[in-house]
Amino acid sequence: MYEIVPEQPFTSTDLNYHDSNSRSIQKQRDATARPAISSLVENMDQYDIVFLGYPIWNGQAPKIISSFLEGYDLNGKIIVPFCTSHSSGIGSRASTLHTLASSANWLDRNEKYYYRQESLPTNAQRLGNIRTGDLMIYGSDCLVFL
Ligand SMILES: Cc1cc2nc3c(=O)[nH]c(=O)nc-3n(C[C@H](O)[C@H](O)[C@H](O)COP(=O)(O)O)c2cc1C
Repeated sequence: MYEIVPEQPFTSTDLNYHDSNSRSIQKQRDATARPAISSLVENMDQYDIVFLGYPIWNGQAPKIISSFLEGYDLNGKIIVPFCTSHSSGIGSRASTLHTLASSANWLDRNEKYYYRQESLPTNAQRLGNIRTGDLMIYGSDCLVFL
C-alpha cells in the first residue's frame, strides 16, 4: 500500500473548507494546480492494477491526485478509483480523471465480478481499452463483467 502524501503537509487551517480562501479550496479552484508529492511509488512497472482512493474535496478528487496520475506511465494498467466523502458521491467527476491517464483502463462504471470455485484456463493477454459489456478474467478464477 502506498500513501499519496503532499510534500507540503496540510494544516487544519488549510483544510477548512468553509473558508473559501483556505489552501485546499484555492487549490481545488485551480485547474492547473499539481501539488508536489513527497515520495514516489517504487517500481510502478510491477503493478497491473492500481486502486486509487481519495477524499472528495469540493465535489472532486484533490488536485494531488492529478499530480499522481500525471507522474507515472500508467499505460495499460487497470485503475479502480474509490472515494470517501461527507455526503457527496464519486459522481461524474471521477471520469474527468480519465483524461489524466487516458491510456489506462478505468474501472469505475458498474462492474460486477464473480469468483469461481475452480480455476479457469487462462492465456494471459494484455487488453487494449476496456469497454462496457466486456468480460474479463482476473487472476485464474474471477470473472469480471464490465
Ligand atoms: C477541502 C475539503 C473539501 C471537501 N469537500 C467535500 C465535498 O464537496 N463533499 C463531501 O461530501 N465532503 C467533502 N469534504 C469532506 C471529505 O470528503 C471527508 O472529510 C473525507 O472524505 C473523509 O475522510 P477522512 O475521514 O480521512 O477525513 C471535504 C473536505 C475537505 C478537507
